[in-house]
Amino acid sequence: MLKPCALSTERRFSRLTSLLVEWQSFWRPAPFMQRNPPWQQRFPELAERLLRLSDSEVERLHSLPWQNSPLDDWLPVAELADLVRLAPLDATSGALPQSWAVHVGGRKWQQIEAFIQHLPITAEDSLLEWCAGKGHLARALARQHAVPVTALEWQAELCEKGRQLAAAQQAPVRMQQQDVLNADAARFLAAQTHAVALHACGDLHQRLLELAAQSGSAVALAPCCYHRTQAEVYRPMSQRGRQLYEAYGLQLDRDDLTLAVQETVTAPQGVRRRREQANAWRLGFDALQRELRGTDRYLPVPSLAYGRLPDHFSGFCRWAAEQKGLDLPASVHLAPYERIGWERQAEVKRFELVRHLFRRPLEVWLALDRVALLKEAGYSVELGTFCAPQVTPRNLLIRARKAGQAA
Ligand SMILES: C[S@@+](CC[C@H](N)C(=O)[O-])C[C@H]1O[C@@H](n2cnc3c(N)ncnc32)[C@H](O)[C@@H]1O
Repeated sequence: MLKPCALSTERRFSRLTSLLVEWQSFWRPAPFMQRNPPWQQRFPELAERLLRLSDSEVERLHSLPWQNSPLDDWLPVAELADLVRLAPLDATSGALPQSWAVHVGGRKWQQIEAFIQHLPITAEDSLLEWCAGKGHLARALARQHAVPVTALEWQAELCEKGRQLAAAQQAPVRMQQQDVLNADAARFLAAQTHAVALHACGDLHQRLLELAAQSGSAVALAPCCYHRTQAEVYRPMSQRGRQLYEAYGLQLDRDDLTLAVQETVTAPQGVRRRREQANAWRLGFDALQRELRGTDRYLPVPSLAYGRLPDHFSGFCRWAAEQKGLDLPASVHLAPYERIGWERQAEVKRFELVRHLFRRPLEVWLALDRVALLKEAGYSVELGTFCAPQVTPRNLLIRARKAGQAA
């Protein structure tokens, strides 16, 4: 097995492209919607092996997909594991005072602290936080380095809250209300700017990278929600990405980008049980609607906010039927469909393990496209992790500085 550093960016990028294309009939179909994923015909033994997995094995493979995977007999598990294994980046500073965490949620503070500990900031840098929310990150940075930080955020309310928090902590933060997608956002980036962005979504971080590449600003970005874009179909940001896309015939749409960032951190037990029940009921209703409509096709039902799930399966079916304008005869006996739903739920969880193997590869591929864009603009770039996935599954960090500028 190769060490993380043994693989060049180019090798990773091109092998991932090739594997994603080669195995797309395994990761694209969602077993939740498609009762018999097409790969079942090619590898019936894989489906049988998955169906024999115990619940605890399923759990283990969801959280540790690369270790002792029985899928290894059919899928390129070891190679994918090598390709997504990125080294933790070197830390640049130590822990922050716990008192600075005040007014920040526990998990968010852990993420901010880990992120800050990996920022290579120099005395010459002029600091800018991109899409700052209440400016928690900007405030911690301003206090750590005792320098002014500008924080861009488009929601006036968040800016105001950020100003109050900064004033209370005497942190030199300038909360600036700004739509970063507007043309005038470019004025905040210059060669001496070091722009930092923790979990900026699709279009927002793409915009940052494009503006940085034009202005020469240093960047530290932990990308998130690649699917939050105007574009339905993904167009690679880098020239190299576009070349690989064309050479291998890769095409990513918004659903694929969503797959790249699907929740991978284990939720609390109660939340998980509730989610499983909701899924089982959806699958039970799906079996019912296929019969009622006489069409063996998935029918998407709107999502329900957490806590709004009816108490019983019958209530759920009535609600879902109403949403879809379906007539639900009072004579229909619903218990068998609830049972089918739970059976399908167990099957879907097992078949999902196949797609799960390709989530991180998709995410790393998208990160590599951003790395390639910056390299093509003359940057030296590092890609690695800044924290454990338990702190945030979106733990990739891109650190980039225009070559020739002091780090
Ligand atoms: C996912 S949050 C990240 C906030 C913060 N960096 C964090 O980690 O908690 C994205 C933030 O971007 C802001 N935002 C969304 N669209 C924006 C835009 N067009 N211009 C500026 N900020 C925007 C949102 O209001 C929100 O505060």
